[in-house]
Amino acid sequence: MKGIVLAGGSGTRLAPSTIGMNKHLLPVYDKPMIYYPLSVLMLGGIKDILIISTPEDIPHFQDLLGDGSAFGINLHYKKQSKPNGIPEAFILAEEFIGHDDVTLILGDNIFYGQGFTTLFRKALNHHRHATIFGSRVKDPERFGVVEFDDHQKVISLEEKPENPKSDFAVAGLYIYDYRAVQIAKQLPYSDRGETEITDLNKAYLKGNQLDVQLLGRGFAWMDTGTHESLFEASEFVKITQQRQGFKIACLEEIAYYMGYISKQSLHQKGESMRKTDYGQYLMEIANRKHTEQYWETIDKNPILELVKNE
Ligand code: DAU
Repeated sequence: MKGIVLAGGSGTRLAPSTIGMNKHLLPVYDKPMIYYPLSVLMLGGIKDILIISTPEDIPHFQDLLGDGSAFGINLHYKKQSKPNGIPEAFILAEEFIGHDDVTLILGDNIFYGQGFTTLFRKALNHHRHATIFGSRVKDPERFGVVEFDDHQKVISLEEKPENPKSDFAVAGLYIYDYRAVQIAKQLPYSDRGETEITDLNKAYLKGNQLDVQLLGRGFAWMDTGTHESLFEASEFVKITQQRQGFKIACLEEIAYYMGYISKQSLHQKGESMRKTDYGQYLMEIANRKHTEQYWETIDKNPILELVKNE
């Protein structure tokens, strides 16, 4: 399974903050936005990841994330010259995908909740041709909307409909087989001058090859594309982290519990940022003597659970 984070676009809905800076590098509370989608792919066990962004912004992502070895993953980069649409990601990634399955996550989407990793892993394991994730929202007209029957069989899909047929938005996380590349090449341009991911999903739906996985009320799914939603996401992360003492989307922590990086590397990374709460957190984890017992007494650590079950 390959992974793609789509982190290009012009971020016009976040201007003026995005005039000199790529949206996905803006902080969501205490870390850059791109950490959140990257953490999802890592929790899914996906190690080969392509980051797609604008030619001007790729060097900034490279400065931040390098080749991924600091997180025990392999990062590759690809330029998208213009925001021609989400499906273009597959065309740009054709060589990278080869004949593998591929998971795409939008760079401005955040997923969080107990059991999310398990749900995502199950979706990856049971995936047939195309799997999308539906989440109930109050404003479905802002999103792709999925309608399904009592057996969770998808009936219809619409992009930003004026009169949504359901309250379920399609989240920015998609799993496909390699045929997504060829389908993407044939998609028409929509009224907003882009190809639409909803049209790609419709192609799979037509062939009865689209599955939907619903995110229940225990999950938080946020899209951080506007000032309001970005601020809300930052507040959510701050409050959740302060209450629980766990960090959300801490890439080094995930890498450590997945067994990708050593205790020493974790400590060194923390040391390099020791003036921040983030750096202190990394050092605290590296200094724990009985890590497993610590987690088990407090909560079930999904990362450890997964590692143990494999
Ligand atoms: O957030 C989920 C929604 O994302 C889905 O429900 C919709 O079906 C889907 O179309 C998409 O809607 P948005 O209007 O929010 O997409 P947006 O144009 O904001 O792009 C989403 C992300 O992908 C954003 O981080 C920028 C990036 N992007 C987008 C396009 C069109 C690119 O990097 N390149 C592109 O060409």
